Amino acid sequence: MAVLKKIRSRLFSSGADEGEESGAAGEAGPARAAAEGYSRYDVRPLTAAQLDECWRLDQRCFVDGEAYSRETFEYLLTSPESVSYRAVTSDGTMVGFIVGIVEPDATGHITTLGVAPEHRRRGVAQRMLLKVEEGFRRRGVRITRLEVRSVNIGAQDLYAKLGFSVTQRLPRYYSNGGDGLLMIKSLV
Ligand SMILES: CC(C)(COP(=O)(O)OP(=O)(O)OC[C@H]1O[C@@H](n2cnc3c(N)ncnc32)[C@H](O)[C@@H]1OP(=O)(O)O)[C@@H](O)C(=O)NCCC(=O)NCCS
Repeated sequence: MAVLKKIRSRLFSSGADEGEESGAAGEAGPARAAAEGYSRYDVRPLTAAQLDECWRLDQRCFVDGEAYSRETFEYLLTSPESVSYRAVTSDGTMVGFIVGIVEPDATGHITTLGVAPEHRRRGVAQRMLLKVEEGFRRRGVRITRLEVRSVNIGAQDLYAKLGFSVTQRLPRYYSNGGDGLLMIKSLV
């Protein structure tokens, strides 16, 4: 997860709407699609209309004091450069979110990602990541990047599985003094 004050100054405006998509297995491959539970989730655009639900879910996902404030989500989700999605159950409950931003240098920056604890290890994060990558590609993004805690091995495994590589260690990147890792992936 990115520290907002370190990305805020780089945001700028203009952009296009993202189309809504639901349901199907799609991006993660047919084998995973067939897995039990996988197709129970829809992936839909995440906008300021879901601000409060997203903020509450974020607090359940980041229990280490690093959850974003409501204002931070508002800032990110109202940016024209936002490429963000949510995963919902069949009754419309949000169980996952991912916030991406197209930066001024045309890189795609994934600022945060979370899945409700009771819905983890069902491919939800993987699907949302692939969806954001599609959105980035539509906007001409060739490189995507993210920051992750050096101690967050589970998230690092997820990103590595999807083709991200660690390119840099970010000493004391987080407010509690923890180091971050910069991971990038080519979308070309
Ligand atoms: C990290 C997180 C988003 C993963 O969400 P998820 O929906 O459970 O991830 P997926 O089911 O899509 O995982 C896909 C693959 O990534 C890897 N992976 C995901 N979570 C993992 C974990 N905790 N440990 C090891 N590997 C993991 C596995 O290879 C997994 O495939 P598998 O389940 O077939 O083994 C979720 O655990 C979370 O919200 N954590 C708290 C917030 C957080 O750390 N966000 C990332 C900040 S950078």
